[in-house]
Amino acid sequence: MTDIKSRIESLKKEKNAVILAHYYVPGEVQEIADYIGDSFYLSKIAKDAEQDTIVFCGVSFMGESAKILSPGKQVLMPDITAGCPMAYMAQVEKIEEVRRKYDDVAVVCYINSTGELKKHSDVCVTSANAMKIVQALPNKNIYFIPDENLGRYVASKVTDKHFIFNDGFCPLHKEFSKTDIEKVRKAYPGALLLVHPECRMEVLEDADYIGSTSGIIEYASESDAKEFIIGTEPGVMYELERRNPGKKFYPLVEGKVCPDMKKITLEKVLKCMEEGTGVVEVTEELRNSANASLDRMLELAR
Ligand code: 13P
Ligand code: SF4
Repeated sequence: MTDIKSRIESLKKEKNAVILAHYYVPGEVQEIADYIGDSFYLSKIAKDAEQDTIVFCGVSFMGESAKILSPGKQVLMPDITAGCPMAYMAQVEKIEEVRRKYDDVAVVCYINSTGELKKHSDVCVTSANAMKIVQALPNKNIYFIPDENLGRYVASKVTDKHFIFNDGFCPLHKEFSKTDIEKVRKAYPGALLLVHPECRMEVLEDADYIGSTSGIIEYASESDAKEFIIGTEPGVMYELERRNPGKKFYPLVEGKVCPDMKKITLEKVLKCMEEGTGVVEVTEELRNSANASLDRMLELAR
């Protein structure tokens, strides 16, 4: 392991590469990353990176967004097959239909989406900035794609706009239920429940805090409480425990992981850096058309 890590360290220097990792990838991969974060933070880092190569430890929409935001750089993914099923859960035809029906509609696209969907959208958002961005839009009608749960959460906070929802979802977060909460609260009665807004409304309603992966980590780190139940992918436990050695963290449901995020291993990071494999390619046409919605997100979230 130490050998793999030291080879990765030397390749970083040799290739002038920076390693970005999402909080859901295995802890040993987060350990060798230069930047670890939620999808919003990592997209900003990718845009401003000075190195020639970005090694993106995450799923395909993250690598693709990095390439769109930073087209002059080489973007490598340790496992190019690591994807997010939600990214495909909206249709361009439906966007066009909604645009015909509502002439002032803003198509708001969660960053967990394909480049093709971003190209047909007005602005991207992440779970960390969705509320702020939707509030800042002049449009009354909002078509929120692909995630219905995040869309409904934003709508519950931004009450002066009319929302049209799409039925996309995260297979992991959608599974969490009120029954799971009842069970885990019985086991850890004093613990606070922190959840991601991709969870269903019945889960959000019972939570003590709702936020992005970074939001959850910040909240737990700043809180005086000592025990927390975590309603998101357990990869966040690595950073939660690293920052808070005196606190206890329990998963809302034991053993539920995002299988695609777990495809990223140290061996694959080394291989892609050694062999230059897993190159993210984006056509110039897609880059030019999908860049606007990502750039607008960065601008409105500032
Ligand atoms: P964050 O933007 O909170 O990191 O979440 C990304 C994600 O894929 C959640 O399932
Ligand atoms: Fe996609 Fe869900 Fe995995 Fe996040 S946890 S990358 S939304 S499948």
